[in-house]
Amino acid sequence: MERSEFDKLDRVEDRMWWFAALHRNLMTLLRWAPPEAANSPMLDAGCGTGDFLLPLARRLVPQGASVIALDLAAGSLSQAQARVQAEGLPVDCILGDVEALPFDDHAFDLVLANYFLYHVPDLDHAIAELRRVLRPGGTLLAATNGQDHMHELWQLVEQALFRLGVSPQRVTALLAHGRAAGALSFRLDNGAHWLHRSFTDVHLERYPDELHVTEVEPLVAYLLSLWFVEQMLAGATASDDALAMHSFEQSQVVESLRHIVQERIRVEGMVRISKETGAFVAR
Ligand SMILES: C[S@@+](CC[C@H](N)C(=O)[O-])C[C@H]1O[C@@H](n2cnc3c(N)ncnc32)[C@H](O)[C@@H]1O
Repeated sequence: MERSEFDKLDRVEDRMWWFAALHRNLMTLLRWAPPEAANSPMLDAGCGTGDFLLPLARRLVPQGASVIALDLAAGSLSQAQARVQAEGLPVDCILGDVEALPFDDHAFDLVLANYFLYHVPDLDHAIAELRRVLRPGGTLLAATNGQDHMHELWQLVEQALFRLGVSPQRVTALLAHGRAAGALSFRLDNGAHWLHRSFTDVHLERYPDELHVTEVEPLVAYLLSLWFVEQMLAGATASDDALAMHSFEQSQVVESLRHIVQERIRVEGMVRISKETGAFVAR
C-alpha cells in the first residue's frame, strides 16, 4: 500500500463508528497477557489513530506498564500521540514499519497487531519481526476479520448497481472483481496458518456480532468510502475489458445507495450488517 493510502485510511477509520464495539471486545483479550505484563514493556504495532491504544494505556499505564506505539503513517501516529498526551499518558509513539521494527530482540512481553497485518506486503516477514521483539513466552494479540465480514455491504452495492440499470452479468463480474481485489491476506480462516510459522501456540477468539443500522446517512457515507465504490466513482477501468467499470456521476451512485438504504430501513426498521471478526492469541 502506498503511503498516501494510509492518510485515506485514517479518514475512513474516522467514519468506522463500529470500531468502538470491536475495541471493547479486544480489551477482554488482555486477560491473555501474562501477569507480569502489567509491569513491563508492551507494543501496539500499527496503532493507527490510537482507538485501541488509548483504552489500553488508560488501563495499563497506571499499573506500571510501559507502552510503545508504532505506525507507518505519520498522520495517524501524530493523532495517536496527541490523544495520549491530552490525557497525560506517557506513551512513546514511534514512526516505523512492522517489517523492520526498530527494537531489540525480546524487548516486549506483549505485542498487539490489530486490524492491519492484511496491509503488509511480506506477511511472513512481519510476523517473524513481531516474534523477534517478543520475549520467549510473550504474547502476540492479532485481530482481523473474516472473508464474510459485513458481506451485506456488497448486497447493498449490488442492489444500487441494478437500480442504476447495470446488467446482471456485469454486476456479477464487477462484484467478483471488487471482492477479489479487496480480499484480505491475513484473515480469520488463514491467520493461524501464518502465525504458526513463527509461533508454536496459536488460538483464535471469535466475536460474532451484528450491527443494526437505523440511520441512513452514516451508512451511505461508509459505503461511499469503500474502495470499490470509489473506483466506480472515479470511472476506473479493470484491465479485463469484460470487467470495465461504468463511470457514474457521483450523484447517481449516492442517490441509488441512499434509496436502497432508505427502503431497507423503512421496510425492516434497520439494515443488519454481520461482523465476522476476532483475534488470534499467539505465543
Ligand atoms: C485500520 S488501522 C488499525 C489501527 C489500530 N491497530 C486499531 O485497531 O484501531 C491500520 C493501521 O495500520 C498501519 N499500518 C499499515 N501497514 C503498516 C506497517 N507495515 N507497519 C506499521 N503500521 C502499518 C496503518 O498506517 C494504519 O494506521
